[in-house]
Amino acid sequence: MTISIKSPEDQSRMRVAGRLTADVLDMIGEYVRPGITTAELDRICHDYIVNEQQAIPAPLDYRGFPKSICTSVNHVVCHGIPGDRSLRHGDIVNIDVTVIKDDFHGDSSRMFGVGKPTVSGQRISQIAYDAMLLGIEQVKPGGHLGDIGHSIQTYAEAHKCSIVREYCGHGIGRVFHEDPQVLHYGRPGTGIELREGMTFTIEPMINNGKRNVRLLPDGWTVITKDRSLSAQWEHTVLVTANGHEVLTLGKQDRETRNQG
Ligand code: MF3
Ligand code: CO
Ligand code: CO
Repeated sequence: MTISIKSPEDQSRMRVAGRLTADVLDMIGEYVRPGITTAELDRICHDYIVNEQQAIPAPLDYRGFPKSICTSVNHVVCHGIPGDRSLRHGDIVNIDVTVIKDDFHGDSSRMFGVGKPTVSGQRISQIAYDAMLLGIEQVKPGGHLGDIGHSIQTYAEAHKCSIVREYCGHGIGRVFHEDPQVLHYGRPGTGIELREGMTFTIEPMINNGKRNVRLLPDGWTVITKDRSLSAQWEHTVLVTANGHEVLTLGKQDRETRNQG
């Protein structure tokens, strides 16, 4: 396993890619309404990334993926392919954006409620968000990957939700998915030790029911086997000398957290 350490120059380029990724998610929010199709969301993001940002949507043609973003609705866990399905009142949808700028990747996803959220949709989205934040809080030099997984798992399971195990966070930089794998479950003090200059994602997928998943015949779409709701949030994180920096904070979070 080779984990790349980003130089200060690489880190500033990661910061730019991360900011652009967050800008796409900030931009698309107002379009997530009943009646819009996920293919329309994809087209709006694609055009914004290519024309406004002069950047590259990393998912497009990645291992044959046909679209520029992933859209995962309700019981879809991840890697949903944008298509003709219109969003309906009460749906929850994860939009996952990965942007390449100046050779470096930013990767982030958020949950959006369509119209007025249902109680269960709101709840699972909030638990996934809080779980991701708890994982991020563990990131500091000298900490271990297992600290991240453990805090996420403990929190989600305390709320009677389950963690998907087949998919995980990942190192990121010049390469979309690089070492290390960032598991969303685990034991404190295990796994590799974190070092300043590492960059990776934290992206827990949390199910309302059982953790088991199924891959649809399209080869991409992952759903919960029991069709329970699933939620996911993702940030790209840099290990700094004193702790961490979240590279994909949206405008609102940058203002309240005073970063950037
Ligand atoms: N953005 C996803 C991740 O968080 C990966 C999507 S791969 C794709 O790692 F091909 F489905 F786009
Ligand atoms: Co990712
Ligand atoms: Co992603």
